[in-house]
Amino acid sequence: MISAIRVLLGDRSYDIHVGQGLLAQAGTLMRPVLSSGSVFVVTDENVEPLHLAKLKDSLDAAGLDHHGVVLPAGEQTKSFAHLEALLDTMLDAGCERHTAVIAFGGGVVGDLAGLAASLLLRGVPLVQIPTTLLSQVDSSVGGKTGINTTQGKNLVGSFYQPRIVLADTDLLETLSPRELRSGYAEVVKYGLIDDPGFFLWLESHGKSLLAGNGRKRKHAVLTSCAAKARVVMADEREHGSRALLNLGHTFGHALEADSGYGELLTHGEAVSIGMLMAFELSRRLGLCPEEDVARLRRHLGQTGLPTALPERADMPWNAERLMEHFIRDKKVRDGKAVFVLARGIGKAFLSAEVPEDVLLAMLREATGEAAAAGTPGAGGAA
Ligand code: GLY
Repeated sequence: MISAIRVLLGDRSYDIHVGQGLLAQAGTLMRPVLSSGSVFVVTDENVEPLHLAKLKDSLDAAGLDHHGVVLPAGEQTKSFAHLEALLDTMLDAGCERHTAVIAFGGGVVGDLAGLAASLLLRGVPLVQIPTTLLSQVDSSVGGKTGINTTQGKNLVGSFYQPRIVLADTDLLETLSPRELRSGYAEVVKYGLIDDPGFFLWLESHGKSLLAGNGRKRKHAVLTSCAAKARVVMADEREHGSRALLNLGHTFGHALEADSGYGELLTHGEAVSIGMLMAFELSRRLGLCPEEDVARLRRHLGQTGLPTALPERADMPWNAERLMEHFIRDKKVRDGKAVFVLARGIGKAFLSAEVPEDVLLAMLREATGEAAAAGTPGAGGAA
């Protein structure tokens, strides 16, 4: 069965459809929101051999004319060079103002194809068909698009809402356990922000969901999309409360940037450690009960997500270096990094007033520098 959630944004409103076996119906589901019978599919080398034939069959069945491109997989593809090449390919393929761009892949494809759709001929219709857990519960919903530059991740982009999002939870079956767990970090995030009941549900069902239970996967994706839709409807362009979705991301982005966006940490793993850092920081500021930090650490650990910084062969982690990354993060207001803190599970809030000494002490403990310097520990951060 397919379920739908409506994202209400005036004339940019759209539906998110979630269900098992949905890809076979993708053409028919998207047809009513398209303004022409022509689509351009952007996918990557990972998705193409697994799922592209099924998507094409469903486009054919709906009478949609299709072209497309297969991009290299991986974060490196979110670049100016690939954006330019993609726009050239779309124009060469004869894309017109009403040709819809279908982003068929994970976060990289969704962000790049979304940005290209927002720029091509000053904006063409966009359809998101996310294929990873991370993109189904986060990046395909809410209209953020972007590429990376030498200065950092997602620093160039646009807000550009899709016409429809189609999340087939059966596609999650082909993900590696590591990729699935990485997406799961974003699922946990929704419980931590404002839904303690969902966190409780995840504590009971997270492991079986990750192990392959399709019904539970669908429930988790639906609940996450509904949570994201609520936040986006309240603050589409992140003037305020949408920044709550960055829980764990200020730390996570710093960890990813510092370790070179490599194999050491996936985005979701960095977010996992980052969420725990946000909770530990909140505890040190006297805001969050120790019990909630322990509950979060336990749940992340039980589902196989990291709760501590991994050993590095290239160079040791360094707290001061991580601090510099916070300042470069785009969630900076008047030069001060904005953190998402928590008064407990399901009670997240924004703060630009984090004392530097508390932050630094927490980071020094997380990086192991405090122990090396003989500073007494306070229970370990993340
Ligand atoms: N991924 C955070 C947001 O969409 O705002």
